[in-house]
Amino acid sequence: MINKVNKDIIILGIETSCDDTSIAISKNKKILSNIVANQLVHKKYGGVVPEIASREHQKNIIPTLSLALKQAGISINMIDAIAFTRGPGLMGALLVGSSFAKSISLALKKPLIEVNHMEAHVLANCIDEEPKFPLICLTASGGHTQLVFVKDVNNIKLIGETLDDSAGETFDKCAKMLKLNYPGGPEIEKHALHGNPYAFNFTIPKVNGLDFSFSGLKTNIRRLIEKELKNNSSLPESKKSDLCASIQHTIIKILIKKLELAITKYNVTNIAISGGVASNQKFRNEIKLLKNRAQVEIYIPKKEYSTDNGAMIAITGYYKYQNKEFTNLNIDVKPRYKLDNLLIL
Ligand code: KG4
Ligand code: ZN
Repeated sequence: MINKVNKDIIILGIETSCDDTSIAISKNKKILSNIVANQLVHKKYGGVVPEIASREHQKNIIPTLSLALKQAGISINMIDAIAFTRGPGLMGALLVGSSFAKSISLALKKPLIEVNHMEAHVLANCIDEEPKFPLICLTASGGHTQLVFVKDVNNIKLIGETLDDSAGETFDKCAKMLKLNYPGGPEIEKHALHGNPYAFNFTIPKVNGLDFSFSGLKTNIRRLIEKELKNNSSLPESKKSDLCASIQHTIIKILIKKLELAITKYNVTNIAISGGVASNQKFRNEIKLLKNRAQVEIYIPKKEYSTDNGAMIAITGYYKYQNKEFTNLNIDVKPRYKLDNLLIL
C-alpha cells in the first residue's frame, strides 16, 4: 500500500467501550505495544456493571498509557495523533476514554481521531496482514453479530446483523445458566474440550437472508437445562461438558452457515472474522475448513486483536490519519454508533 503521508505515523489508540481498558501504540501499520487491563471485578456479578466499568477505566487508564509508552519505547511527544473509540459501547466507559483522548490532544496539540468500534474490529484484520479486497467479514462480539462487505479499508457496508441477541451474549448467558464464570465464551470453550458436540441437538433458527437470531436458541437451551435440573440438583461435570460442546457447536454452525451464504450472495473470494468470539479455537478451525470447502482466502486476527483491544483503534486511526479525517474537541460519544451511518459503499 502507498503511504499517502510521507513519514512515519505514530498513533495512540484508546479503547474503553466496555470492560477492558486498552491502549496501543502503532508506527505505520506496525503495533509497537498493545496493553489491555481486564476488569476482573465484574466476574462476581456474572456480567459487566456499567458504573463499575467507568470507575475501573478511570483508575486503569493512566497506568495503561504509561505501560504502552514504555513497551513501545517512545515518549508521548512523539505521537502524531490520538484515536479513540466513540461508540458503540457503554456511555460512562466511552466518556472516560474520549475525555482522556481529548486532554492528550489538547495538551500535545495533536489531532484527534474518532473511531467506530465495529469498524475497528473489522480492520483488526489489517494488522500484520495485507488482506485482499473485496472481502466479507463476520464480526461476533458481546454486543454485536454483523456481516459486512469490505470494498476497501475506507468502505465498509453492513449486509446482515442479529435481530436480537449476539453470539457472544449467547455464550455469556448460557455460561451463566450453567453457573460458569463471566465472560462465558472462554469458559464454555474450556468445558467443551471434554464434551461431545453432538450430545444435544439444538434447533438452528430459520432467519431470512444474512441476518441472525440467537434468542430462540437461548430459550431452547434454558428449557433443557431446567429439565435436567429437575432430575438432578446439580449437573454432573460430564453433562456440563456435553452441554458446552453442543452449545459451542450450534453457535458456530449458525455463524458458518451465514458466512457461506454471504460468500455465495456476494461472490467473494476473501473472508475474515473478528470480535471476541473469533478468539474461539473451534471457530477458527471451522473457518480454516471453510477455506477449502468454499475455495476462499481467509483472514483471522491474532487472538489478542480479536477481543477488545487498543491496537484495532490505532490501526483504524492510522487509515483515518492518511485521509486527514480529524475531529473537533467538542465531539460527543455515541453509545449506539451504527456502522451504516458512517460508511458508504
Ligand atoms: O469483542 P469483545 O471482546 O467485546 C465486545 O465488543 O463485546 O467480545 C466479547 C465477547 C463476550 O461475549 C465473550 O464471551 C466472547 O466475546 N468471547 C468468546 C471467547 N472469548 C471471548 N466467545 C467464545 N469463545 C471464546 N474463546
Ligand atoms: Zn468489541
